[in-house]
Amino acid sequence: MKAVEIKKDVYWVGARDWNLREFHGYNTPDGSTYNSYLIMDDKITLVDGVKGYMTAEQLARVRSIVDFGKISYVVVNHVEQDHSGSIPEIMKLAPQAVIITNSAGKMALEAHFDTTDWQYQIIKTGDVVNIGKRNLSFLTTPMLHWPDSMMTYVAEDKLLLPNDGFGQHLCVEALFVKDYPNDLVVKAAKSYYANILLPYGSQAEKALASAGEMKLDIDMIAPSHGLIWSGKDEVAQILGLYDTWAQGKNVRKAVVVYDTMWGATAKLAEVAMAEFQDADIPVVKYNLGVTHISDVMTDVLDAEYVLVGTPTLNNQIFPRVAAFLTYMKGLAPKGKKGLAFGSYGWRPGVVKEVKQVMDDLGWQTAESFEEKYTPKSDVLNRFAEKVKIFIGS
Ligand code: FEO
Repeated sequence: MKAVEIKKDVYWVGARDWNLREFHGYNTPDGSTYNSYLIMDDKITLVDGVKGYMTAEQLARVRSIVDFGKISYVVVNHVEQDHSGSIPEIMKLAPQAVIITNSAGKMALEAHFDTTDWQYQIIKTGDVVNIGKRNLSFLTTPMLHWPDSMMTYVAEDKLLLPNDGFGQHLCVEALFVKDYPNDLVVKAAKSYYANILLPYGSQAEKALASAGEMKLDIDMIAPSHGLIWSGKDEVAQILGLYDTWAQGKNVRKAVVVYDTMWGATAKLAEVAMAEFQDADIPVVKYNLGVTHISDVMTDVLDAEYVLVGTPTLNNQIFPRVAAFLTYMKGLAPKGKKGLAFGSYGWRPGVVKEVKQVMDDLGWQTAESFEEKYTPKSDVLNRFAEKVKIFIGS
């Protein structure tokens, strides 16, 4: 397996995980990559590891360029195991190497691995490490999305290595965004933001502001998942998208998400969708029986209206809807207008629990709507009226 040169003397030495279909609860139908970068300078530097079971692939790509015994620095931008899994093996092969990370990174490494003989250089935002012709500088981005998260910037190459930031769970033969349909990369980047970084919008805004203050001149962003953004236009594209998502800007569109047992909640969902269509507002409808919760979140990210429908099962929220609500609560999308609806057999009330989740998220909510057994035309008309008012709210 070979390394791929992405800038002069800077190589991609990552691993492609073609078969990944699930990433801690996130549906990944297109697999993922764990990108690592090797910088050949006076002090040879390896940036980031890969997931443990992909270690052999990373080692082979590094060895196609250099022996591990010649590596001076290993930069650990983030200790989540999809990026640190190979680090113990790397440190066995390169015991002379010094790990560059921040103090939270050191603590996390020590909490995950036997680090007895590892040497560290602890950095903070703005610190610079000279490796020969190049200067590496660092931007710590705590809670974007772990306490240890940080980004590495190579000034001489105008290259940002932001680890999880700007990534996508996308495994394809192409390495660069320019070599793959742009709309598919953007969709994957949006999905990644919605499912990994969404709770940390304020930290993302802070990171973008700090990068601005540091006046980083960037013409390539090489994340540790997915494809590399190269050239000023692509860099501006992804920075602009992150700015929009981090600010929690919504667009006028609706997501109707529901599950159904005997079709009652599905009928209500159909009515809700029709009302948005009649109002010329883009709307998507997802049945949780056939759609993964993480795919729904990608649309929730920038939707103004979110409607959640549930049947009642044994006096509880239907389990797949409950799973969606738990997942969404953790990701904490802001500034939505919410409407809960659903059906019951003999005990009403669980739809109010759905509304409560929306209230807890600080959304503007309408009174919830629920109906006993199968809604007849008068009920459907009543619900249509309610949705109309909700749209105008
Ligand atoms: Fe790609 Fe937070 O790990």
